[in-house]
Amino acid sequence: MPDQPWKTAITDVSGGAIRVRGYDIAEMMEHLSFADAIYLILKGELPNNQQRRMMEAMLVSSLDHGPTPPSNLAARTIFSGGNPLNTAVAAGVMTIGDSHGGAIEQCARILQEWVKREGTPQDLARTLVAEFKEKNRRMPGYGHRIHKRDPRTIKLLEIAERIGYKGRIIELAVAIQDELERTSGKDLPLNVDGSIAAIISEMGFDWRLGKGFFIISRVPGLVAHVHEEWTREKTMRKMGPPPYEYDGPAPRDIG
Ligand SMILES: CC(C)(COP(=O)(O)OP(=O)(O)OC[C@H]1O[C@@H](n2cnc3c(N)ncnc32)[C@H](O)[C@@H]1OP(=O)(O)O)[C@@H](O)C(=O)NCCC(=O)NCCS
Repeated sequence: MPDQPWKTAITDVSGGAIRVRGYDIAEMMEHLSFADAIYLILKGELPNNQQRRMMEAMLVSSLDHGPTPPSNLAARTIFSGGNPLNTAVAAGVMTIGDSHGGAIEQCARILQEWVKREGTPQDLARTLVAEFKEKNRRMPGYGHRIHKRDPRTIKLLEIAERIGYKGRIIELAVAIQDELERTSGKDLPLNVDGSIAAIISEMGFDWRLGKGFFIISRVPGLVAHVHEEWTREKTMRKMGPPPYEYDGPAPRDIG
C-alpha cells in the first residue's frame, strides 16, 4: 500500500454514491446531455448555454470522415485480422497523431502561447508563418488532402460567431490561414483540428486536452466502422494494399 492517499478531484465513489465533480450521477443522468457531462468532467463546471452549444457542435464535427483516414483503416484492418472490437477501436485511436486528429493539441498550444504577444492577429500571423517557414515546419491545424475549405470549419466558425465566441484567438487562427495561403500560393485551409483548437482555446481549455477532444468525438465513428466490418465483410478480406512499386535492393544472398 502506498503511504499517501492518491488524490483526485474528478469523481468521488463510495457505497451507493457516485459524484462527478461533486454532482450526483443519477441527477446528471436526469438533467445533462452527453456534451454537458463531457464539459463537466473535462472543465470541472457545468456549461452555460453558449458553452453547451459549442461543445455539441465540436463533438459532432469529428464523428467520422469515411473509411480512408488512418484511424478507420487501422480499426478495420485489425478487426479483419480476427481481433475483437475493443482491440480494433484501440488500434484506431493509436493512429491519432500529428497529422490525423492530433493536430488540435499543438495548434491549441501555439495559439494559446502566441495570442499573449503584443500586436494585431495579422501581425502575429505574419511573424509566426515566417518562423515556421524558416524552420521548414508545417503549421498544425492547416491544410487538407480533400477539402479546399473544410466544411466543418466553416460551420464551427459560423456557430462560434453566432453565439459569441469571436475572440482574438479565433481571429489569429483565421489570420494564420490567410497568411499561409498568401505566402505559399496554396490552399492551406484552417481544418477541423485547427478550428477546434481555436475554439477550445477561446473557451479556456488547456491545450493538453486537444487530442482528447478528437478521440472523444471519433470513437463512436470507429465503433460504427468496426461493427460494419464485423457484420458486412468476411474476415481477412482483401483490403489492399494499394498499387505499389518495390524500389529496394535487388535479390541477394546472405552467405
Ligand atoms: C493534412 C495534410 C497531411 C494534408 O496534406 P496534403 O494536402 O496531402 O498536402 P501535402 O502534404 O502534399 O503538401 C502540399 C504542400 O503544402 C504544404 N503544406 C501542407 N500542409 C501545410 C501546413 N499545415 N503548413 C505549411 N505548409 C503545409 C507542404 O509543405 C507542401 O509544400 P510543397 O509542395 O512546397 O512541398 C497536411 O496539410 C498537414 O500535414 N497539415 C498539418 C497537420 C494537420 O493539420 N492535420 C490535421 C488534418 S485534418
